[in-house]
Amino acid sequence: MGLREIRELARMRMSPEAWEHVMGAAESRATFRRNQRAFGRFLFRQRIFHDVTDPDTSVELFGRRLATPAFVAPIGSFSLIAEKADSQVAEGAGRAGTMLFVSHAAKPSVREWAEATSAPIVFIAYLNRGKEDALRCVRLAESLGFAAVGITMDTIQPVKVGDRVPLSTKDGKPRKGHPASAKDIEWLKQETSLPLVVKGIMGAEDARIAVNAGADAVVVSNHGGRILDFNRAAIEALPEVVAAVGSKVPVLLDSGIRSGGDIVKALALGAKAVLVGRPIAWGVGAAGVEGVQRVMELLSEEIRRVLIMTGTGSIREVTNSILIHEPVAGNGLS
Ligand SMILES: Cc1cc2nc3c(=O)[nH]c(=O)nc-3n(C[C@H](O)[C@H](O)[C@H](O)COP(=O)(O)O)c2cc1C
Repeated sequence: MGLREIRELARMRMSPEAWEHVMGAAESRATFRRNQRAFGRFLFRQRIFHDVTDPDTSVELFGRRLATPAFVAPIGSFSLIAEKADSQVAEGAGRAGTMLFVSHAAKPSVREWAEATSAPIVFIAYLNRGKEDALRCVRLAESLGFAAVGITMDTIQPVKVGDRVPLSTKDGKPRKGHPASAKDIEWLKQETSLPLVVKGIMGAEDARIAVNAGADAVVVSNHGGRILDFNRAAIEALPEVVAAVGSKVPVLLDSGIRSGGDIVKALALGAKAVLVGRPIAWGVGAAGVEGVQRVMELLSEEIRRVLIMTGTGSIREVTNSILIHEPVAGNGLS
């Protein structure tokens, strides 16, 4: 079963409200569409005379070795899909040998996440839930051996689904925006010994501010097109972020990843790894743990094919030289 079929199965099995929430994007959906289409501008340079047959798809981040550079993005509302969706995603991530980013907004506690998975976990705070609560979770994450912690900082305006601001899954109240400040990064950096990730960066200036304030990694992300309509695609913002801070910290990317080819393109443009959002939600909505595992398997199979067809022996060897930049858009799935 391919990703399209998994998506269609999820659409049939999920409640219309959950589907609308997961697929929701701000206003006209221009950012959402652009996130995916922008990958279509990059083509691969095919190479056949080489001996690459079994490329190494593993990566290392925060001292952990992962089987794949496709990680699970933090999604606060998996529980809208199914009661057990969070723990199913956690188990699927463990089986796939990937890294699990978990959201402060999600139902499970920090301890429940740790119990539900064998995957290295990154706890991603929302400071609108209060600094005290963020710190309590970060301390617990430390004591439970999480790989890193972080803050999502692009929600200075709340997420929008169409023209509506969704209710919080934790307290049922409408979400509010929260200002982003370098001081908050400095504060959390002082409070934790774990690597600190800042998510929601879309340009060189913000990337520099985050890294100067103590970020140990940044995630180039426009929140899957859920906040600012007519934002740039994340893949379009990636090169300038890599040029600004890529020699200092690992740069991750999410928003619009729908295939292994998209992942290899992001790596070729300087990302260390990517986070996958909605496809994981489709996987769990379609078939629980197995669905998540299948999505991860599909992405890995596609990564391997691209590496072989470009003569690239490992993720480490992926460089910009395997890409041709073409001004034609369209990567199919929306
Ligand atoms: C339903 C849904 C809920 C999300 N919840 C969170 C969240 O709680 N915290 C966060 O940092 N990002 C959240 N995100 C954004 C994802 O982490 C990620 O940035 C985005 O989904 C990537 O785009 P993609 O869905 O095109 O892969 C959410 C995204 C979706 C679709």
